[in-house]
Amino acid sequence: MICEISFMSSYEIRGKKRLEGEYVLQRAKNSALAVMCASVLVKGGTLIKDCPDISDVDNLSAILTRIGAVVRRTGDGLYVNTDGVYSSYLPEDLCEKLRASLFLAGPLVARFKAASFAYPGGCSIGARPIDIHLDGFSKLGAEVGKNEKRVNVFASSTIGAKIKLRYPSVGATLNVMCCAVTAKGETVVENAAAEPEVKDVADYLSLCGAKIKGAGTSVLIIDGVEKLYGGKSFTPVPDRIECGSVLLAVLATGGEVAVRGANPANICNLLQKLRDNACKLHINNDIISIITNGRAKGFEKVVTAPYPAFPTDLHPQLAACAATAAGRTEITETVFDSRFNYARQLKRFGADVTVNPNGVTINGTDLTGANVKAEDLRGGMALCIAAMAAEGVSTVEGVSHIARGYASFKEKFNALGASIAEIDP
Ligand code: EPZ
Repeated sequence: MICEISFMSSYEIRGKKRLEGEYVLQRAKNSALAVMCASVLVKGGTLIKDCPDISDVDNLSAILTRIGAVVRRTGDGLYVNTDGVYSSYLPEDLCEKLRASLFLAGPLVARFKAASFAYPGGCSIGARPIDIHLDGFSKLGAEVGKNEKRVNVFASSTIGAKIKLRYPSVGATLNVMCCAVTAKGETVVENAAAEPEVKDVADYLSLCGAKIKGAGTSVLIIDGVEKLYGGKSFTPVPDRIECGSVLLAVLATGGEVAVRGANPANICNLLQKLRDNACKLHINNDIISIITNGRAKGFEKVVTAPYPAFPTDLHPQLAACAATAAGRTEITETVFDSRFNYARQLKRFGADVTVNPNGVTINGTDLTGANVKAEDLRGGMALCIAAMAAEGVSTVEGVSHIARGYASFKEKFNALGASIAEIDP
């Protein structure tokens, strides 16, 4: 199904509605996208079960289809068969739509021994260089050439190597891992990203015959195999960022919500912060229930960093909650160098937010409805949280950003008692 939110749509949100009920999580966007990319390595189709119905998945499906894959929705799942992929040339117009297009490079180099791709798009949250990806390809025996518009990677063969990543980049770990699974010999990746979504892709590749040890830790040991075989179905991990977004929305607005389909182990850091706040948490297998108890409190100091530290993808949502809390919050952003676009918009609600070179300082206050504009996915979610917590009516423009990563955002929150209407300008 094609995600149906027009580029121009806005949300009109009436604030101060208590949120109550059950919220069922989607599967992780960043895992589903990466598995779609990794499936290029696999002969025979893959059924990604419970694949989120979001526009990033639609856009990546369009890229895969353009290079010869068959991609189709089957109920809640997404069937991807890459047997017919005939080209490792990725068109610019599609690459610029999402960051995850870059995650096709490793699988394409592994399969075709060559890939040509344009610099990827994605959220504007700071400089997003790709040097670690390219260094990884070089270490695996490829030649890398680039100009202003495109990167060309060519390898007469891919050969296992010892690679220490300069930074535990999620995308570079995915690309190196995918390229190494069919390289000759052993690859050791040090300082690898340990995010649950990276482990998920390793689990998927292993299901298809790859030999990967250490997934979910900072050292990956990969023994190259000749071929990977599909015909498998794979269910991505729960979306920990959606989970955190909902919990922070409930803390900001007040309410009592059971979030079902969660993996609490994957968001320990946020749960610890919530335990110190004005709410009770009950965890029962895959259900995290939050019951708020008065006004949220400031979070004091929060530092984003790679997993298992506090996720950068929850920074704006935590800031929105902090903006309406009692007390002070200092967020230090160490992953992206300018994930602060949302702050200017938060101020329109009356938030007391100061942007510093490496983060934001927030003194919580009462928010009032405002007209704001989402400029990226998580920042857009943050604005919706602020609007739900504010007194009066708000308009959030640019909600196509939110549709990139949150399936049925409006419907799921309205079912909890929020008042969100989609309006066209
Ligand atoms: C992935 O992006 C996610 N995207 C992001 O999700 C997430 O914020 C990020 O990982 C960190 O967790 C997808 O999975 C599609 P990185 P990625 O490479 O792989 C620097 C969301 O909201 N870096 O780990 O692009 C980079 O500039 C999003 O769902 C280099 O310097 O992130 C950044 O500062 C947005 N050189 C840091 O590393 C490189 O070659 C982390 O980036 C690569 C990265």
